[in-house]
Order: sequence, then C-alpha cells, then structure tokens
Amino acid sequence: MVIFYHGAAFDREGLRCNNIAMKALVAFYSRTGNTKKAAEAIAKELGADLEEIIDHNKRSGIIGWLYAGRDAMKRMLTAIDKPKKDPAAYDLVILGSPLWAFRSYAPAVRTYMTENRGAFKKVAFFLTKGGSAGDKAIADMKETCGKHPITVLELLEKEVKSGSMADKIGPFCRSLKS
Ligand SMILES: Cc1cc2nc3c(=O)[nH]c(=O)nc-3n(C[C@H](O)[C@H](O)[C@H](O)COP(=O)(O)O)c2cc1C
Repeated sequence: MVIFYHGAAFDREGLRCNNIAMKALVAFYSRTGNTKKAAEAIAKELGADLEEIIDHNKRSGIIGWLYAGRDAMKRMLTAIDKPKKDPAAYDLVILGSPLWAFRSYAPAVRTYMTENRGAFKKVAFFLTKGGSAGDKAIADMKETCGKHPITVLELLEKEVKSGSMADKIGPFCRSLKS
C-alpha cells in the first residue's frame, strides 16, 4: 500500500500529499494478541502493509512465559519464519513488540531487526506493555536496529483492550507524516 506524505488527510490510499509517495510496513510480534491489535490499527490508519513476525518458539504456558522473560533479559535471538515482505522495499518500517522483562522486548523482533539491519530506510517503534517504563526497551531497539526512530509509541495493555489506544495511535500516525 502506498502512503502519500505531507499534510493532508488520510484516505484509503494512506496519507496523500504533494505527490510524494511512501510505502510503509508494520512489522510486529505478538504472543497474546495485544501488539497484533495495535499493529492492525496502525496499519489501517496509515494504509500500510503488515508483517507478523512468527517465532518458532511458541512460548506458551507458564514455562513458555518464564523462558520468554529469561530470553528477553539475556537479549537472545530466536528462529523466526522467513518474512513474507522485503523491508528494503519500504520507505518506512514501523516495528512493534511487547515489552518483556522490564527493559527488553521480544526475541523475535530482535531477530527480525538483526537479520534486516541494513534494509531499513526509516523506522518508528511501538511497544505494548503492562505498566513498566519503556525507555530502556526503546533504547535497546534503537541499538539493535541501528536507526533512530522517527517517533515511538507506548501503549498499555488496558488501552489496547479497551480501545482507548486510538487516542494515542492518531497522533503517532500523524507524526509519521511530518
Ligand atoms: C515474559 C513476559 C514478560 C513481561 N514483562 C513485562 C514487564 O517487564 N513490564 C510490563 O509492563 N509488561 C510486561 N509484560 C506484559 C506484556 O508486555 C503485555 O502484556 C503486552 O501487551 C503483551 O503483548 P502481546 O499480547 O502482543 O504478546 C510481560 C509479558 C511477558 C509474556
């Protein structure tokens, strides 16, 4: 999907302005659906494509939860499905992850960023989380990605579930065109 950048309104073709067309991709990992819900809302608002990053480790149950926290804390990589879309074909890639282990994020997103480090032109980040501060995880994402994000967004799990995330997603998406 093509995004036209500048100052005008969103429509079905994305942001439209000044004939400057930009392609955007929202690439995300989600274990329990919150980050997926946020990713879909962002992609809809921007008219962007979606790439769900699939971890071969399903991280289910209490054991899965425990190892997920440990792997995130240790900044470990994991095996992921080959992406369906080439991030190098996009002007902007918006990367989304759940916040894990207070200062980290999902190994699947770390792996995606590491494997595609040279492919990103512009990036933005978003996190979903229970309630911790996200600044350390965002700093870690910047380091892994090798790019400074245009902007970042942190959403509480309760904002995702209630739908009040829309109040933050609107300004986040608008800041991507400025
Ligand atoms: C292993 C693990 C560790 C987590 N650690 C934190 C944390 O340190 N701080 C926090 O605010 N939320 C933490 N969470 C909560 C998730 O960030 C939150 O539920 C998120 O919205 C889940 O996204 P998802 O549904 O896309 O997987 C953790 C969740 C898991 C599974």
